[in-house]
Amino acid sequence: MLINREIREKLDDILYVLKLKNRNTKVSLDKKVKIEQILAYMEIIHSELRKSSKKKKIIIIDSGAGNCYLSFLTYYFYQKIYPKDIEIHCVDYNEKLMESNRELAQNMGFTKMYFHASDIIDFSVNKPVDMVYSLHACDTATDKTMHLGIRSNAKAILSVACCQSSLKLKSNSLKSVTRHKAFRDKTIMMIADSLRAILLEKAGYKVDIFNFVSSRYTDKNIMVRAIKKGFKQTIKLDEEYKKVSAEFRIKPYLEELLADVI
Ligand SMILES: C[S@@+](CC[C@H](N)C(=O)[O-])C[C@H]1O[C@@H](n2cnc3c(N)ncnc32)[C@H](O)[C@@H]1O
Repeated sequence: MLINREIREKLDDILYVLKLKNRNTKVSLDKKVKIEQILAYMEIIHSELRKSSKKKKIIIIDSGAGNCYLSFLTYYFYQKIYPKDIEIHCVDYNEKLMESNRELAQNMGFTKMYFHASDIIDFSVNKPVDMVYSLHACDTATDKTMHLGIRSNAKAILSVACCQSSLKLKSNSLKSVTRHKAFRDKTIMMIADSLRAILLEKAGYKVDIFNFVSSRYTDKNIMVRAIKKGFKQTIKLDEEYKKVSAEFRIKPYLEELLADVI
């Protein structure tokens, strides 16, 4: 475990500032759940970034950042605990959130955190990007995050989807499964992420999909991790994509976004 108990204790100060922990009272269940999600996510971020030289400047984009908890903790971690020169760009179309987070970062002296009130689709940084990540960006924001990662030529793209409300599942062969809502939602998630994985592979990324945190802390716990590096292909990408997309009549928005790219 990279984010061990000692590091967790050291992160307490920033958790207090973010009001995810309170010095006097016990942590509420909601906040405990969020803390566990963030720490588990940071574990994956750190497992990638610790491979780079400590001297190298790292550029990160947090896509659909919301209250930016994950990025505040990540920034703090690399500033105070495992020193690394990092710059984080948080993107969210919620202007008020971006403004209040900007103020908080200024108060904390986090001079290399930037906040952009923008749709993910319109955002770019004119610098080499190391990592694009998103946690529970809603619906097509997950596709936009992956698209942002690919068009920025990011070395790593991490994404945990939230809802998939724009996707509907129409499969004749799985009717007896998908008539149950709980199974239908899970199946949509599996098919959508599997198809996105193929698109990422076509763009030159090695992809793995796994549970990044226990389902005790969220049932939306599937991470798609895409790393730009050579890998051995085990399936025929175009053929499989067409087959699965046709069978379930699902087309993730990422397909449309990448139409001119891959
Ligand atoms: C469920 S919240 C998650 C926020 C944060 N990542 C977290 O884990 O707490 C999703 C965020 O994505 C933002 N969002 C959704 N679609 C977006 C888009 N197309 N462009 C920018 N922000 C978007 C919303 O404004 C919202 O703040």
